[in-house]
Amino acid sequence: MNDTSGLPAAGTVAPPSWSATAPGKAILFGEHAVVYGRPAIAVPVTRLQATASIVAAEAGSGVWLATPDLPGPAGSESGQPYPMRQAPDDDPLRVAVYLALASFWVLPEPAAGREPDIRVTVTSSIPVARGLGSGAAVATAVVRAIACFCGKDPPTDQVSRLVFEVDRLHHGTPSGIDNAVIAFEQPIYFVRGVEITRLAVGRPFELVIADTGVASSTRRVVGYVRQRWQESPQRHEQLFDRIGEIARRARSAIQRGDVGTTGRLMDENHEQLKNLGVSSPELDRLVGAAQAAGALGAKLSGAGWGGNMVALVEPDTAGRVAGALRESGATQVIVTEVS
Ligand code: MEV
Repeated sequence: MNDTSGLPAAGTVAPPSWSATAPGKAILFGEHAVVYGRPAIAVPVTRLQATASIVAAEAGSGVWLATPDLPGPAGSESGQPYPMRQAPDDDPLRVAVYLALASFWVLPEPAAGREPDIRVTVTSSIPVARGLGSGAAVATAVVRAIACFCGKDPPTDQVSRLVFEVDRLHHGTPSGIDNAVIAFEQPIYFVRGVEITRLAVGRPFELVIADTGVASSTRRVVGYVRQRWQESPQRHEQLFDRIGEIARRARSAIQRGDVGTTGRLMDENHEQLKNLGVSSPELDRLVGAAQAAGALGAKLSGAGWGGNMVALVEPDTAGRVAGALRESGATQVIVTEVS
């Protein structure tokens, strides 16, 4: 008899299981400049989620990883479960599991060096390489699920720090904003190396987030900005200062619920990101379409050269802006509230 209920058949015992989720993120202000010590603002996007589930596996099997809807490590067939030991050393999933086990798993003596016998399955609705924090969200869900499997409930900043280590594989020189906003699941005002502050939102507001459909590597774009900064430090420091000042003004506008000013600052931030060379024709087209359809402001979000843009809208213009973005070629459009 086929069991369609998802429950174990009578008389069988389901293996123990543990799971955890983490949201996507959008950067509202300050990307790139944040790598150089300027402030930035980011919000969680809870409509997009990564989930890590762990089930106990056969004794002696070790850790197996499965990513049914995500690319597998280089050379492996996407979606096929693989033993963690055979994954490349820099496979982000392997690194996340190792770091979490090293932090939370207490090995029964004298079994040092052994792995637990588990299967870790990761699924995610967050598009990969689109500036929405897919890598950090997957790592956060994995770290939390492993902690749960080990009977631990780690503080959020410990989870965030472990995910930062994994993010270094994706980004090279991350500022730490992605792991922070995803682990804390709250709007944050972030300055590298400074304690994270939750950003109180004076009035909830709506965002329309639209995907150009173009994949973009954060590592490449961050590397490009670094090279340009090394070539002309003075020009770039000035650009970073301007972006940092916009983020500072945006913090007070958001705190007092002034969506008009917040929107105008997003437009200004987009202009500065264009000056930095990280926009693209597709991003500029979507930003222009949102502005023309009545958005209060719009900008690219994340590293740029592709990925997503974000528009600030009044609730009654959200539908019109979303429609205009689809007509202008957006491959996915989501509306989300920030409060
Ligand atoms: C990527 O989400 C944001 C960047 O500022 C890089 C970083 O902060 O690590 C482009």
